[in-house]
Amino acid sequence: MEHFAVIQSIVRAARSGDRRALDRQVARLLERLEKDGSVKEAAALRRLGGLDAEVQDLAPSRVEVSRAMVSGEALSRDVNPPIDRETGAQLCTIDFGSADLAVPIYSEMIGETIEGLLREWSNEEALRRVGVEPTRSLLLYGPPGSGKTVTAHYIAARLQLPLVTARIDGLISSFLGTTARNIANLFDFANRYACILLLDEFDALAKLRDDAQEIGEIKRVVNSLLQNLDRRRERGITIAITNHDRLLDPAVWRRFEAQVHIGEPGAAARERMITRFLQPIQAEPSTVRIISYCLADSSGADIERLCATLKRHIALNGEAHDGPGLFRSLGAILARAPAQAGIPARMLAADPEAFVSLIANDVDLGLKQTEIGEATGYGQSRISDLKRSRKHAGLLEQIHG
Ligand SMILES: Nc1ncnc2c1ncn2[C@@H]1O[C@H](COP(=O)(O)OP(=O)(O)O)[C@@H](O)[C@H]1O
Ligand SMILES: [Mg+2]
Repeated sequence: MEHFAVIQSIVRAARSGDRRALDRQVARLLERLEKDGSVKEAAALRRLGGLDAEVQDLAPSRVEVSRAMVSGEALSRDVNPPIDRETGAQLCTIDFGSADLAVPIYSEMIGETIEGLLREWSNEEALRRVGVEPTRSLLLYGPPGSGKTVTAHYIAARLQLPLVTARIDGLISSFLGTTARNIANLFDFANRYACILLLDEFDALAKLRDDAQEIGEIKRVVNSLLQNLDRRRERGITIAITNHDRLLDPAVWRRFEAQVHIGEPGAAARERMITRFLQPIQAEPSTVRIISYCLADSSGADIERLCATLKRHIALNGEAHDGPGLFRSLGAILARAPAQAGIPARMLAADPEAFVSLIANDVDLGLKQTEIGEATGYGQSRISDLKRSRKHAGLLEQIHG
C-alpha cells in the first residue's frame, strides 16, 4: 500500500497526542499525495488540517445591531449611489459584504476595542437604561496597509449592514462650491438608508490646504463636514479613516467619539498573519517565527504581499511545502528585496549560514536548535558549529558599517 509508512507515523503521532508531530506527518503525506497527482485527495485532507486555524479566524458570530442604532430604509442592490451633478461621478460605493470575511488580525487591545464597539451597537437599550449613549462615530488612523479599510468592512459584515464608502477625494469637486453640495448629498443618502457610512482616505481633505487659492473652499468643506457629522449623530454609525493623524482638522478629529490607532502588527500578530497568508501551505511555528523575524516593522499588507511572493516562488520552483523549502524560498525572495529591509532579512539574503548563526545565538527569538534544524534543513552538528562560529558577527558589522 502506498504511503503506508507516513500513515503509520500519523497514527503514532495522533495516539501520542503530539500535535506538532501530527501536523508534520500530515504535511509529509500531503506533499507525497500532491507529488503523485492525487490533488483532490490532498485538497480534502488540507481542508481537515486547516480546520483549527480557520475556526479561529473565519466566520465570526453575527451581531444583531440595535434597531435604534440605525434608522432608515433597507438599502437594496438596485439603489443607485448619488452622483456629482457636474461630472456624473459616483459619490460612494456600496458594499453588501461577504459571508466569509476573515477577522482582521491585530494586537489583543485593538481587537477588544473593536469587539467593545460591536457590543455597544448591539446593546443600545441596556446602555440607555443607565443613561449613556452608544458610541456612534469611529476614527481609525495609522500607517497605510495596517488593516483600517479591512476593519471597516469587518465591522459592517459583523453588523450585517451595507457599507457606504465615500472617498473624500471623490467628493472634492473640481468645480468650486460643489464639494459642499456633494458632501450634503452623500450624507442625505447615508441617512436615508440603514447602513454604515465610511469616509475613507480622509486625509485628502488636508491636501486642499496646501493650495492657497483653496482656503475658502476648504473652510466651506470642513464646515459642511462638521454640520453633516452632527446631523448624522442620531441616524447611524460613521467610520472615518486617515493615514495621517496630524493633518486632520482638530475640530473634525474631535467629532469622532472613538479613535483607534491601528499600527504595524507586533510579533504575535505578525505570526498569525503569516500563518494565515501562507495558507494552504501549513508552516510549522518555527518557520513562521523565522519569517516573522525577517519582517519586523512590516505592515499587514507587506506581510500579505511577501507571503504571496513566497507561495509563487515555491509553486514555480517546485519547492517543498516544508520548513527547508520555505526557508530557501524566503532567502531567494529577500535577496531581490530592497536594501531598506531589517538586519535579519538582509543577513538571510546575503548569507543563510550567517543567518542561522544569528538565530541560533538570539535568545529572545527562543528557537531550540532542533526547531532551527526543522525550519532550515541544516543538520544539528552544522547548526552547533555555526552557532559557535558566530558567523553573523562579521556580517553584522558590515551591515552596520
Ligand atoms: N490587521 C490586518 N489583518 C488582516 N489583514 C490585514 C491587516 N492589515 C493589512 N491586511 C491585509 O492588507 C491589505 C491592505 O489592508 P487595508 O485594510 O486596505 O489597509 P489600510 O490600513 O491602508 O486601509 C488587506 O487587503 C489585508 O488583506
Ligand atoms: Mg485603506
